[in-house]
Amino acid sequence: MTRTVYELGERPPMGVVPEQMYASVIRPSRYGPPEKAFQVERVDTPRVGRGQVLVMVMAAGINYNNVWSALGSPLDVVAMRGKRGDTTGFHIGGTEGSGIVWALGEDVRGVKVGDEIVISGVVWDEHAWDVRLGIDPMSSASQEVFGYETNYGSFAQFCVLEDYQCHPKPPDLTWEQAACYVLTGATAYRQLCGWEPHVVRPGDPVLIWGGSGGLGSMAIQIVRIRGGVPVAVVSSAERAEYCRKLGAAGVINRREFDHWGRLPDVTDAEASARWMQGVRGFGRKFWEIVGERRGPRIVLEHSGQDTIPTSMYVCDPGGMVALCGGTTGYNGDLDLRHLWMRQKRLQGSHCADLREAREVSALVNAGLLDPCLVPCGDLSDVGTTHQLMYENANPPGNMAVVVNAEPGSRN
Ligand SMILES: NC(=O)c1ccc[n+]([C@@H]2O[C@H](COP(=O)([O-])OP(=O)(O)OC[C@H]3O[C@@H](n4cnc5c(N)ncnc54)[C@H](OP(=O)(O)O)[C@@H]3O)[C@@H](O)[C@H]2O)c1
Repeated sequence: MTRTVYELGERPPMGVVPEQMYASVIRPSRYGPPEKAFQVERVDTPRVGRGQVLVMVMAAGINYNNVWSALGSPLDVVAMRGKRGDTTGFHIGGTEGSGIVWALGEDVRGVKVGDEIVISGVVWDEHAWDVRLGIDPMSSASQEVFGYETNYGSFAQFCVLEDYQCHPKPPDLTWEQAACYVLTGATAYRQLCGWEPHVVRPGDPVLIWGGSGGLGSMAIQIVRIRGGVPVAVVSSAERAEYCRKLGAAGVINRREFDHWGRLPDVTDAEASARWMQGVRGFGRKFWEIVGERRGPRIVLEHSGQDTIPTSMYVCDPGGMVALCGGTTGYNGDLDLRHLWMRQKRLQGSHCADLREAREVSALVNAGLLDPCLVPCGDLSDVGTTHQLMYENANPPGNMAVVVNAEPGSRN
């Protein structure tokens, strides 16, 4: 007989779905610092719909988006879904992970019960008109981030996926390694290789903010794989060392500069001169590392308000700043003169499509891209790991927790 719930680490017989499961849950009454907002609770196991797959989660990757879910800001995800008729009243986050396909809805294609998979973290409506008319699904009005904008993400014993979110797990990886790289790896890959003609070519200098972070650690390696010259920005000697080991040609410690934040008003000559002195010093540091007076052809941006004026200024004429986030704020100032006179491009970039997710997995599977796993405990540690991220105190690399797997196991 099926039990109502199985303890973490226990596996029901293959394909048997218990009525309830454990999950790390956020409720609006707990919105605030992540270490308090997430709590392990017992909730009903979600049911799958048409085209959907229930996955037993073995391990889950930790990402910045669920810091925001925990805070309830800038988006109150529970309220947003409530407006669409979702009556759960809670959020189970988790945009990436690894696991075993456990049950199938109607019309599922390409996966079967028992398949070992990794999750790609974006969903869209395959029947949406813009998708049917051929738009990149990442630009579809129906596109949403799984386990952030949608409920029942990977911080639970079971999660609900669209069938196309399942990708074969690289067999040699542990469950935690497999859980930690798709989101940051594929997002960095799209920023660096997805926006022709601004794709990394051999010899291209690339500036990477937060080089030891999730995106940064993936970006340094991807630039190297493509023959580019990665220059990382960090805030400590320890993080600098980590970036060098991953292949950074050089590292800039942002603590040596203080021109961060919004641009001074152009009419304030004194403040503008001070800002210019700071940004030029930063640019000279970049030239020293690449060995010529050449700015980055691509800048990998995600820090946002504090750094975007610098990114736009130091970017080479005709180059591109590809931005996928705004951790430090959303008001991105830029001096328009530099944009048009130097014909620079500011490109928004969000997650990745299925091909990009597969290509990143192929690089990992081939041993060319290290997933940079930081093992961080189990489901009860989801809150503290997000808290570390919120405080910019997380260790270098990509954090993951085990959910149903034994730490370090492969199947
Ligand atoms: N749109 C998407 O698809 C997508 C996907 C993944 C991530 N993101 C976003 O990208 C951002 C970074 O994600 P992540 O996973 O790489 O996070 P992470 O692992 O926490 O790394 C972020 C890095 O940013 C750096 N940083 C912090 N404050 C900074 C500041 N004031 N100026 C410059 N750098 C600063 C930190 O490095 P130092 O302190 O050493 O400089 C840190 O290592 C988050 O906002 C996340 O939501 C977006």
